[in-house]
Amino acid sequence: MSLVGHDTPQPTTVDRDTDLGSVVGPEGALVLGPRALAVVIDGRARRFHYVWLRDNSWAGEDRVAQSGERKLFTASIADGIAPTSASYDPNAGLEILWNDGRAATYSPAWLRRYDYSPAARAARRSPVTLWSAAAGEPPRFPHDEVLGSAEGQLAYLDAVREHGAAIVTGVPCEHHEVERFAERIGHVREVAFERVHNVRHDPAGYNVAHTPGELKPHTDMPSYNWPPSIQLLHFLTNQATGGESTLVDGWAAVAELRRDAPEHFDTLVRVPVPYQLFSDDEDTWAENPMIQLDTDGQVRLFRFSNQLAQPLAAPFEEVEVFYAAYRHLARIIDSGRYRATFKSSDGDLLTVHSHRVLHGRMPYDPASGARHLQDVYMEFDDFTARRRVLRGEHQPLPAQPQETR
Ligand SMILES: [Fe+2]
Repeated sequence: MSLVGHDTPQPTTVDRDTDLGSVVGPEGALVLGPRALAVVIDGRARRFHYVWLRDNSWAGEDRVAQSGERKLFTASIADGIAPTSASYDPNAGLEILWNDGRAATYSPAWLRRYDYSPAARAARRSPVTLWSAAAGEPPRFPHDEVLGSAEGQLAYLDAVREHGAAIVTGVPCEHHEVERFAERIGHVREVAFERVHNVRHDPAGYNVAHTPGELKPHTDMPSYNWPPSIQLLHFLTNQATGGESTLVDGWAAVAELRRDAPEHFDTLVRVPVPYQLFSDDEDTWAENPMIQLDTDGQVRLFRFSNQLAQPLAAPFEEVEVFYAAYRHLARIIDSGRYRATFKSSDGDLLTVHSHRVLHGRMPYDPASGARHLQDVYMEFDDFTARRRVLRGEHQPLPAQPQETR
């Protein structure tokens, strides 16, 4: 193999890619294997496959100049793609001449950002703080700060992301203010029934929320295959006696179940549960496991609604297994652990990550005063997108800065 040189050390080679995992060397040391390489950056060997590097080239002919989108058709990369020559310099980065004749450069900053080792992936994961058994109220953020400054809005978005809930205080008590708030952050997720839901005492309402009785903590719209992942609840007035808000960290409850009864956890990951919510002219129905995991095995979507669960249609031998698991988890949720109970005030806007946090309320006396809130749904993706824009992370980091738009 011929190697290009600057004034940088020449790469060494190994016969097996598995040997790349144990590479040690001075900063910038580069080792080439048959189908991958390792380079020491920040004192740690970082491994990258050739096909991955070639696919992520930012050389001009590989990208759409005006947008940075990939022009290189991934399937066209030869199976035997490999460097003809390669070098690494802490300033210039990784320079490769590929055996298809193309040349590409990968800056150190880009290699750090996209390092796909388990350690790097773990470091990039957003922290999630599960609630303790003695959960306090969600953090509060003044409306003027959330909508008036990037820092204020970021603090609110970060809180919802990390804690699963936040309260915006001092929101004008105007009808549909919650919809205007949602549109300042992102977009309303529309579902059946109303774009803006009114929750108040209504003897003809289609949902238990319209009664003055206790509303056990639940997640909304489990009757959709993808339930809304953010819920905004705006208290226009809350003058009735009782009616305290209750929130439960569902992920914390599930973590307890997973720790103490992993077989119950597995059951709830496996057995689908039908849910339905309907009115005279709407009907929503979906059947999914209560716990859905991401590709790392972490809880991604949790749905829990005692009132909307429909008759289980599982194999005979699964039914009692399911009930044992479900009742175990429901007892954890109902135990008071991981639950925050507090009285919401006029102008409070409660935000919950509703694939995680359950909401409910204590009973109230409708004769004692008015209680009226309006709520809309959004998607967690909107919060992630807004956060990335405010942090300036939405612009791509080109691998090859000198050839970008
Ligand atoms: Fe609800």
